[in-house]
Amino acid sequence: MRLVISLGGSVFEGPAEKIKEFADVLDEISKSHELFVVVGGGRLARELMAKARELGANEVMCDYIGIAVTRINAMLLAFAMKNSAKKIPESFIEAVELARDLKAVVMGGTIPGHTTDATAVLLAEFVNADLFLNATSVDGIYSDDPKKNPDAVKFEKISPSELLEIVVKQKASAGVNVVMDLLAVKILERSGIKAVVFKGEPENIRRVVNGEKIGTLIC
Ligand code: UTP
Repeated sequence: MRLVISLGGSVFEGPAEKIKEFADVLDEISKSHELFVVVGGGRLARELMAKARELGANEVMCDYIGIAVTRINAMLLAFAMKNSAKKIPESFIEAVELARDLKAVVMGGTIPGHTTDATAVLLAEFVNADLFLNATSVDGIYSDDPKKNPDAVKFEKISPSELLEIVVKQKASAGVNVVMDLLAVKILERSGIKAVVFKGEPENIRRVVNGEKIGTLIC
């Protein structure tokens, strides 16, 4: 299978051993699958972007800072992996070129204006991925923000258009951290790529690739 994995930036806030655990699982998966990993910026990106904002940077400038952090995280993961390219591609075309010789490619963000989830879904569409894996901080998609609404229910399966409605509704309330950005969901809808959203733990990545039903399936 050709897989694209979006790995949340929170992974890189943990100890080196945690990053190594992810690297080992991804190396193992890359032995039997073609793998593209897109990593996020996490807390470090948010902190540096806030500092830049205080210094008068506009939002596009802040996005560039976020992108730089995602690329540093991509380096950390790529250097911890045995099978990954050590160059961090800055575009999808570069990523595909690198993937010709190697079975795993790790990258960060590309252009300002969205999150790495959107980058990862766009990459999945570009490479005609068989499956998009969103390894994130929540264990699936809920009808509402589970941290704020105790009645929120988790979906086992959801269509991209149903997810779009939830994301639009949540985006309307300020400060809510939506599970996937709007652009990512729109690209999923138009591409028809099958996606799974699940709690980003190394073992969970292995389980999803092996076909186990965890998290929420978007199709
Ligand atoms: P992230 O995708 O990591 O944002 O990129 P996030 O929402 O904090 O996700 P987690 O917490 O890691 O899962 C950090 C920031 O970098 C910019 C955006 O500003 C984003 O919020 N960015 C990232 C871009 O502008 N373009 C990209 O392609 C990627």
